[in-house]
Amino acid sequence: MPSISISGRPYFYEDRGEGVPLLLFHGFPFSSEGFWPQLESPPRGVRLLVPDHRGFGRSAPGEEVATMEAMADDALALLDALKIPSAFVGGLSMGGYVAIALTRLDPSRVRGLLLIDTQSLPDDEAGRARREAAAQDVEQHGVGALADGMLPRLMASTVAPEVKARVEKLMRAQSAKGVAAASRGMASRTDGKDILSRYAGPCLIIVGAEDVITPAEKAKVMQELVAGSSLEIIAGAGHLTNLEQPAQFNALVARFTAGR
Ligand code: MLT
Repeated sequence: MPSISISGRPYFYEDRGEGVPLLLFHGFPFSSEGFWPQLESPPRGVRLLVPDHRGFGRSAPGEEVATMEAMADDALALLDALKIPSAFVGGLSMGGYVAIALTRLDPSRVRGLLLIDTQSLPDDEAGRARREAAAQDVEQHGVGALADGMLPRLMASTVAPEVKARVEKLMRAQSAKGVAAASRGMASRTDGKDILSRYAGPCLIIVGAEDVITPAEKAKVMQELVAGSSLEIIAGAGHLTNLEQPAQFNALVARFTAGR
């Protein structure tokens, strides 16, 4: 797995497939491995660049609060290092927050926006308090309880047991430091409304019909904000559409990045 150094911090990424670049951001609390079907068989015509956000997978952690902007800044450093002027930019859930943050930081780098099982809305006060409590719990007891709490809500009940088992293993493999920092970073994120309503490029929004974490209503809010965007609601998928319906997911991504 290749890496670059950002201010002395190793930042790892997967680089698979050939074609138009798609910078794809994983959700919480995962790593680039959260896109395993896509990494094994990239969507046709796409060069997939999938980083491990700071503090996840093999990438070193940064500050105590990993803001969405800091993660987006790391990804911009990757594009610079690879000499890629602009790319399709997408993300699942927390990865979508990072994609929106990147669009805020530098819209000139975004050829198209792919928002997967995510939302533009920030946390309310109760949500922020829950994130802080989760961060403290993870710091004191590790990621096990967080993973146990999330697992039943992540995927549709029809998901294959081996997919569910790999998802659980992946969550449990993440570092407490990285997970706590990202939890605090998500709590501090701002409303994406202004940036999405200004964004004028292509935009595809994908959501699992059975997503209970960022349900279709939240996807519809984003669709109304982005002029000309398309929304695809995938049957038989919960919050991890790319893992639950990989063939359909890949076909949508291939079509979107080909401009069809
Ligand atoms: C994720 O899947 O990345 C998280 O559930 C997002 C969130 O907690 O807001």
